[in-house]
Amino acid sequence: MRKKIIAGNWKMNKNHTESGTLAQSIVEKVSGIRGVDVVLCPPFTSLSPVGEAIKGSTVALGAQNMHWEKEGAYTGEISANMLLTLGCQFVILGHSERRAYFHESDEIVAKKVNAAIQAGLTPIVCVGETREEREKEITKEVVKRQVTGAFRELTADEFEGTVIAYEPVWAIGTGLTATSEQAQEVHEFIRRHIAGMFGSDLAESTRIQYGGSMKPGNARELLAQADIDGGLIGGAALDAGSFEGIIRAAL
Ligand code: PGA
Repeated sequence: MRKKIIAGNWKMNKNHTESGTLAQSIVEKVSGIRGVDVVLCPPFTSLSPVGEAIKGSTVALGAQNMHWEKEGAYTGEISANMLLTLGCQFVILGHSERRAYFHESDEIVAKKVNAAIQAGLTPIVCVGETREEREKEITKEVVKRQVTGAFRELTADEFEGTVIAYEPVWAIGTGLTATSEQAQEVHEFIRRHIAGMFGSDLAESTRIQYGGSMKPGNARELLAQADIDGGLIGGAALDAGSFEGIIRAAL
């Protein structure tokens, strides 16, 4: 049985003071919950206050991005080790916003995935098709290319534990959600592809989150699908009550 994992991707929202307050209220609401892994991914500037707020709770900390080099002359960048020393266990990589606005290619995502795993962080690797790609009926090709690209250089041992987030780009922040059937079809496809890359045991244990306008009202149905093992939540993660509702729907 795969334990469900719900992660909040706060994106570029909440300053460090607001972040501490939001994390505190999430901890109060979900502290008794053991059956779901909960991760908060605030902006870099909020990792420290959120780390403080979740101390002693079951909530884990994640970042939204990192650089692939260990250190050096990369102005404005953050390394895996900097995240680890702030208490991060997870890092979101290859989010569609990074691919679209910051030109992150499959090669760049792969370098980051490798660096995160070498450093001991668990990557949450995002894949997903645009609206045009879905209309052209090339969703599976796109997702296959992204999954292959991100994990190509890994051994099965290195890959183990990595989380994948299927996020159809047309569903992110738009209020449009993939139907549970549409999402399940792609999740199942990703799992089969992982089986081809790393074997069926690892594919069975790999957690694949859905992301894209997940809310308390649609979470239960999505999370009931055989291959949907959690959610990567944007907008609804910025409200403690909504985020709690999604976490409870995963129980
Ligand atoms: P959304 O974002 O829940 O606001 O659609 C999800 C994401 O981009 O991770």
